[in-house]
Amino acid sequence: MIIYTSQDRTSICSRGMKLAIALLVLSVMYKPLCVRAQAIPSIEKSDGHLHLLVDGKPFFVLGAQVHNSSGWPAALDQAWPVLAAMRCNTVSVPVYWEAIEPRQGSFDFSTIDAIVLGARAHNLHVVLSWFGTWKNGAMTYVPAWIKENPKKYPPVVDSAQHPVEALSPLGEASREADRKAFAALMTHLKSIDGAQHTVILVQVENEAGVLGSDRDYSPQGNARFHEQVPSEVLASLGRTNEHGTWPEVFAERAPEAFMSYWTARYIDSVAEAGKSAYPLPMYVNVWPREQPGLLRPGFSSPSGGAVAWLLPMWKRLATHLDVICPDIYDEDEDSYQNLLALYSRPDNPLYVPETGGSIAHAKNMFLTFASQNAIGISIFGVDGHMSAQNLESFKGWGSEVAMNFALFGPASEAFRSLSDAGHLKVAVEEEGLANPGLSFDQFDVAVRFGPVLNGYGGPRGRGNPQRNGRVLVGQISPDEFLIGGMNANLIFAPKLGSALTHAMLVTVEEGYFEAGVWHTERLLNGDETAFGVTLKPHGSLLKVKVRAY
Ligand code: DGJ
Repeated sequence: MIIYTSQDRTSICSRGMKLAIALLVLSVMYKPLCVRAQAIPSIEKSDGHLHLLVDGKPFFVLGAQVHNSSGWPAALDQAWPVLAAMRCNTVSVPVYWEAIEPRQGSFDFSTIDAIVLGARAHNLHVVLSWFGTWKNGAMTYVPAWIKENPKKYPPVVDSAQHPVEALSPLGEASREADRKAFAALMTHLKSIDGAQHTVILVQVENEAGVLGSDRDYSPQGNARFHEQVPSEVLASLGRTNEHGTWPEVFAERAPEAFMSYWTARYIDSVAEAGKSAYPLPMYVNVWPREQPGLLRPGFSSPSGGAVAWLLPMWKRLATHLDVICPDIYDEDEDSYQNLLALYSRPDNPLYVPETGGSIAHAKNMFLTFASQNAIGISIFGVDGHMSAQNLESFKGWGSEVAMNFALFGPASEAFRSLSDAGHLKVAVEEEGLANPGLSFDQFDVAVRFGPVLNGYGGPRGRGNPQRNGRVLVGQISPDEFLIGGMNANLIFAPKLGSALTHAMLVTVEEGYFEAGVWHTERLLNGDETAFGVTLKPHGSLLKVKVRAY
């Protein structure tokens, strides 16, 4: 052990400090030469398609969100190994208003620091979810000094004049307080991550709106409800020829339209405050009401969120939000596909901030992978289902999503550019649908799920026992395809109408992508291709060249 006297320490310190100052001066003088600061994450349009850019390159979020109470260092320590097993590239973590501003104006960012440093140590990007005024249509995450002062921070009041456990979007003091807290968070984030870009996206609030009433029936709420609907609302919804109060224009849908308008203005203002400090891309997640059985705004789902029929209004009013996106827990393929279509617009990238971990969710995830303008998807609640102790037996919930991430992650750049070019198609197995067809410029592809057996109509897939087949087929050129997926078998035929009748497999390469470059591991042939091109249960990535004759 070396023991220093206090004099030694002073001189070591001052020598150290001199060196540090010299390095700092040098780094400032020569910054353009040695550190090329990358642009902060952003959402950009190129060649007509929207992309999330991280350090200047398109990035597809393969995310996993931890549980609501897991944004704390101790809980995160349990989550890191699970996230590694999920094979995600991004972790989505909540940030709690009550934790960062326990006393008004006094901030504690230790949880943020732990999230960012932990993610860096585990080679992950971060999506931060701001649990501020709203969390699932309630005010559960606002600090105690707000909960305990309803006079200053008014809640929604229901039609029986009872307060509901949700702040009113009409409350100016609430909005100002949220703006200040969120701006302080973004200022801190810039100071710790402005150069490194570990955090790439920020969610503003969580499933906003109110549960427990369809609108605010307070005196202020009633007065506002009987004001004229602003012309920009009418214009955004294509109703320029109409005018009148909210109930006059929207009848039984008025409470929801009214709440949604004020919530959009409130959240946009919070996002604006955050962006003035550090302009990362920001989004809101929506509890969509399009799901079957969830039909009553304010009771079965929050009243005031960006539900699909009001999406055009949000896009027009909430200009500080880059993305408005649905949490999709639907297992049914048609309703999943419907939500993707509703929220994908030329001005709204497609992001699924929350989905589940069942086999059906893993299959539906392939629909997101293939969608135009998609920037990512995230599975919710991974740390509840698995723990560092049971990773070995990681087979059930979430495991098929992890297989998706492992397969799609390194190949995402290739698949996404095929999607941008309009050359990517997807097939997922459904009960009673084991033989979907895909059509390309010169070839038709029959996808067979499950054992291929002869019967009426020739050899056909009989379905996988777990109905977990899924496949992406991208046309690289008219006779070359990139194929990724699980539990499927594919055969090619010259496109219907062609003069040729047969298709020959020229080469079937099995391989992987590394840093965007394709590497062939082996050529498949013989028994491995004689009965079609087979995709293994844990996933296969293939490059296939075909020839019609
Ligand atoms: C949707 C919410 O956004 C999440 O925070 C979480 O509460 C899940 N629902 C629970 O399933």
